Amino acid sequence: MGQVENRMIKAAGLAGVVAGDTAISTVGKEGLDLNYRGYSIGDLAEHSTFEEVAYLLIYGKLPNLSELDIYRRKLVGLRDMPRELKVSLEQLPSGAHPMDVLRTGVSVLGCLEVEMEFGDVREHADRLVGCLGSMLVYWYHFSRTGKRISLVSEETTVAGYFLDLLSGETPTDKHRRCMDVSLILYAEHEFNASTFAARVVTSTMSDYYSAIAGGIGALRGPLHGGANEKAMELIEQFTTADEAERELRAIFERKEKVMGFGHRVYRDSDPRSDIIKAWSRELSGGSEKAYLYPVSERIEKVMWDEKRIFPNLDFYSASAYHYCGVPTEMFTPLFVMSRVAGWSAHIIEERGVGKLIRPSAEYTGPQPKSYQPIEKRS
Ligand code: COA
Repeated sequence: MGQVENRMIKAAGLAGVVAGDTAISTVGKEGLDLNYRGYSIGDLAEHSTFEEVAYLLIYGKLPNLSELDIYRRKLVGLRDMPRELKVSLEQLPSGAHPMDVLRTGVSVLGCLEVEMEFGDVREHADRLVGCLGSMLVYWYHFSRTGKRISLVSEETTVAGYFLDLLSGETPTDKHRRCMDVSLILYAEHEFNASTFAARVVTSTMSDYYSAIAGGIGALRGPLHGGANEKAMELIEQFTTADEAERELRAIFERKEKVMGFGHRVYRDSDPRSDIIKAWSRELSGGSEKAYLYPVSERIEKVMWDEKRIFPNLDFYSASAYHYCGVPTEMFTPLFVMSRVAGWSAHIIEERGVGKLIRPSAEYTGPQPKSYQPIEKRS
C-alpha cells in the first residue's frame, strides 16, 4: 500500500493518549499514589534521600547502606568539571537565563565526554547528577563577580552541596533537608513534556547528552518547569493575603492562567504539593518574608473556591526555595538537577524499546497548486 494504515487518533496536546509503556513511575492511576518503581512518593519524601532516589531511578533498585555510601562518594568525585567546560561557562553573560546555561553546559560536556557507541549510559547519568549543580553555581558566581569558586565542599549530598556553593556557607539542617525533599519530589513524573522530549530524541538513536539537552529545553517553559519561577513572581508582589486575593480576582477577569496551578493528569490534587507546602510553612517561621506563606495559602484557597483548580508541585516550591535562600531564576534549574535522574531512567528504558517515535499530523494547509516561476509571481 506504501502508506501506514489509517487508524489515526487525534488528541490536542496528546491529552489522554497512552504513548508507550513504562516501569519507572505511576502518575494519576486509579488507586495508586505517585510512585517511583513501586515506592510511594510519601514514603520516599519522608524516609529517603535524593541520592537513594536517583540510584533507584537510574539503577532500578533502592541501594543498601554500602551501595549508597559508594554512590555518594562517586557523585562527590564527579563534581569537578573539565577546564574547557569552565572556560565555556565563563563566556556566558550574567543576564543569561540559568536554564540556557545548563542546556549549554550539558552540550559542552557532551562534546568533551562523548557517549561512545552507547556504552553504559548510567556513567553519564551519574556524571550529570554529580556536576549539574557545579555548572550552575560556578557560572552564577563567575558571571557576577569574576570569581572562580572552588567546587570542593564538605557537604556530601547534592542538596547540601548546591546550597553550600550558592551561599558559601554551611546550610542549616532544615534548609538542606527541604532541598533534599524537593529534589526527591521533582525527580520523576512519567511521560511529562520534558521526559517525552528526551524519549523522542532517544528514539532516533541519538546520544544521551542530546536527549538531556532536549529535556532541558522542554522544561524551561512556564507551562512545565518554568511555572515555579512564575509562581514566585506572582506571590512576591504581595505582602498580605487580602492584596493577593484582590489581584487574583483581577487575573480571573483578564482570563489569565495562574502558574503553579492545575495539571494535565491529576484531577483533584497533586500528591507532591502538600509535602512541599509543609516545608514552606515550616521555613516561613524564621524568615523576614514569612507573609509569603499566608499569601500563598490564600491564593490556593481562592483558586479552589472559584475555579476548583489545585496547586501543583511548583506553587509551594516557590516559597520553599525562597526560604532556602535560592534566587528565583535558579528554581527551574533545580528542577533539572533533580529530573535528570528521571530523564536518565527514561532514556535507558526508551533504548530498550528501540522504536522511532514519529506521530502523524492532520494537514490543514492549502490544496495543491501549480508552481509559478519567480518572475511570474506577483
Ligand atoms: N490557572 C487558571 N486556569 C487554569 C489553570 C491555571 N493554572 N490551569 C488550567 N486552567 C483552566 C484553563 O484556562 C481551561 O479553562 P477553559 O476550559 O475555561 O478554557 C481549563 O482549566 C483546562 O486547562 P488546560 O490548559 O486546557 O488544561 P491542560 O491539561 O492542557 O493544561 C496545564 C495543564 C498544567 C498546562 C495547565 O493547568 C496550566 O497551564 N497550568 C499552569 C502552568 C503550570 O503550573 N505548569 C506546571 C504543571 S506541573
